[in-house]
Amino acid sequence: MESFDYHQAAEMLAWQVELGATEAICDAPVNRYEVPASPPKAKAPAKGPQPLRPEAKPDPVALATRAAAGAQTIEELRIALQRFEHCELHKGARNMVFSDGVPGAPVMILGEVPDREEDRAGKPFVGRTGQMLDRMLAAIDMGRDRNVYLSNILPWRTPQNRDPKPDEIAMMRPFVQRHIALAKPKVLVLFGNWSCQSLLEKRSIMRLRGTWTKAADVACLPMVHPAALLRNPAAKREAWVDLLSLQAKLRDG
Ligand code: URA
Repeated sequence: MESFDYHQAAEMLAWQVELGATEAICDAPVNRYEVPASPPKAKAPAKGPQPLRPEAKPDPVALATRAAAGAQTIEELRIALQRFEHCELHKGARNMVFSDGVPGAPVMILGEVPDREEDRAGKPFVGRTGQMLDRMLAAIDMGRDRNVYLSNILPWRTPQNRDPKPDEIAMMRPFVQRHIALAKPKVLVLFGNWSCQSLLEKRSIMRLRGTWTKAADVACLPMVHPAALLRNPAAKREAWVDLLSLQAKLRDG
């Protein structure tokens, strides 16, 4: 039988729904009047030594912490994340979106979740949001080609661009923290509510923006997300104030 990837299967299903399909039909007819045969009786448990307690489910945050801690370089961290299979988002994404820019740059920017364009390209901030980000950085004479490193708090796109769930954020947090420790930026910029949720455990960007704080032991500035500036250009005024504050911090320490 031909096999399809997640995206092809989703597109074919959407097409059938558009044609009016409302029910999935199996290859063979189903007799819904048939009386099911009584289920086989469960076997009595085998006698002998029993385990003291049922096998515990592995804690994905503990597994993530262990996987991230084992990475000694940014490249090793990228490989550890690529191999980490406990996050369901991994399965629906085309590509992992890990980072762009200059590793070891004085500024590390953490965005939120990759969009469609980033998922296709396997790089953060490549769509319209990325162009807006590049214009913002150019306004203070910075750029991802010179002195900025970029990543996100989730490396995989969410289905239909839904908000990230708390357990997804928690599972990826050890990787984000290790990424910061290995990249050693002088300052961190957190774009939007979800990156503040991941690293500050707070979520009200219009109250947090513009005030320097610390995250993962690094001076950090929450800012309005460039995607929000595309939706609400009036917020560019606040973004400009924050960019000047970033520039001054890098100059004056
Ligand atoms: N928004 C983000 O937060 N990150 C991206 O990579 C793209 C859009």
